[in-house]
Amino acid sequence: MSLYRPIKIGSLSLPGNLFLAPVAGYTDRAFRSLCAEDGADFSFTELVSAEALSRSFGRYGLGSDDCAAHNAAVNTAVNLVRRGESEKHYAIQLFGGEPESIYKAALLLSPLRPDALDINAGCPVPKVVKNGAGSALMKNPSNLGRIIEAAVRASRESLGNIPVTIKIRSGWDSKSINYTECAKIAVEVGAAMVSLHPRTRSQNYGGRSDWSHIADLVSRLSVPVTGSGDLYTPEDAQKMLQETGCAAIMFARGAMGNPFIFSAARSLLESGKWEPAPFSARIAAAIRHLELLAADIGERTACLEMRKQFCAYTKGLPGGAALREKAVHAETIAEYREIAAAING
Ligand SMILES: Cc1cc2nc3c(=O)[nH]c(=O)nc-3n(C[C@H](O)[C@H](O)[C@H](O)COP(=O)(O)O)c2cc1C
Repeated sequence: MSLYRPIKIGSLSLPGNLFLAPVAGYTDRAFRSLCAEDGADFSFTELVSAEALSRSFGRYGLGSDDCAAHNAAVNTAVNLVRRGESEKHYAIQLFGGEPESIYKAALLLSPLRPDALDINAGCPVPKVVKNGAGSALMKNPSNLGRIIEAAVRASRESLGNIPVTIKIRSGWDSKSINYTECAKIAVEVGAAMVSLHPRTRSQNYGGRSDWSHIADLVSRLSVPVTGSGDLYTPEDAQKMLQETGCAAIMFARGAMGNPFIFSAARSLLESGKWEPAPFSARIAAAIRHLELLAADIGERTACLEMRKQFCAYTKGLPGGAALREKAVHAETIAEYREIAAAING
């Protein structure tokens, strides 16, 4: 059987197993759309605070034109969680330390019709963990269970019973590796898929991820396991699927500035070969990304946001450093287009 294959997450059937991971500050709806066009089978919004969602949207409700027209902050937040133009299947990822706030936030998401609701139990950032959320949930597995339960209840009551999934790490630190315990608790109360980024919270994003944890978890769970960690090339994806037996993989840093990694990986899995996208295509994608982003959040903000993304799009490009230097001063789409034209010319 091909390593590229359909996957079922609870009631959700996906045509393939190459996913875009949640990456805060990068996987905006514009980028998710580009990845979907290239063949990402499923994608995740970046983590969104359940508390902040309830605060911002509680008054107007999500998806109402009123709230978008009258409140720029709400508009920006809506754009974080809205489905991308070309996205067929996506999950909204929430974080929070209180079951009740997860429940309330999840109820508010119903107008957006996500295909799944993902709970973040891996974020290492201090301002997230200090509230008992993100990877701090792994220090308190019973609360993690209550959080999943609350999400499942909200899904049943107002989201059409879409699957609830969870993304975890290996554990808090090397002395508390408890991915199996956390995953089992989550599945017992209804999680339909577990994504594992096999680094500890203490490792943050450094060092190597330990794929043996993914293989181990696959052997212990009845639901699909999605693997994450150090996936930079199509070969990495192939290797992770082969070595761990995971049902799906998710590209994170490997997809930044390279939405073409999905078709490349699929090509490798199906035909044994792939071609890297030419730089001209990557630069064209960067401009398209910028245009889509500007339609969502306005030209000026999009141009500022694009600076870091542009670094990713031009990584490895000969003369890229000089272009990045120009891009950090670009304030309009026209200026970005000029930079792109110079590359292509
Ligand atoms: C800048 C950055 C932001 C991230 N944001 C999120 C997030 O919002 N939610 C989440 O579950 N994981 C997040 N992650 C983790 C990734 O989804 C992924 O699990 C991790 O980067 C390991 O994969 P990689 O080594 O292939 O990049 C983030 C990672 C990075 C580098």
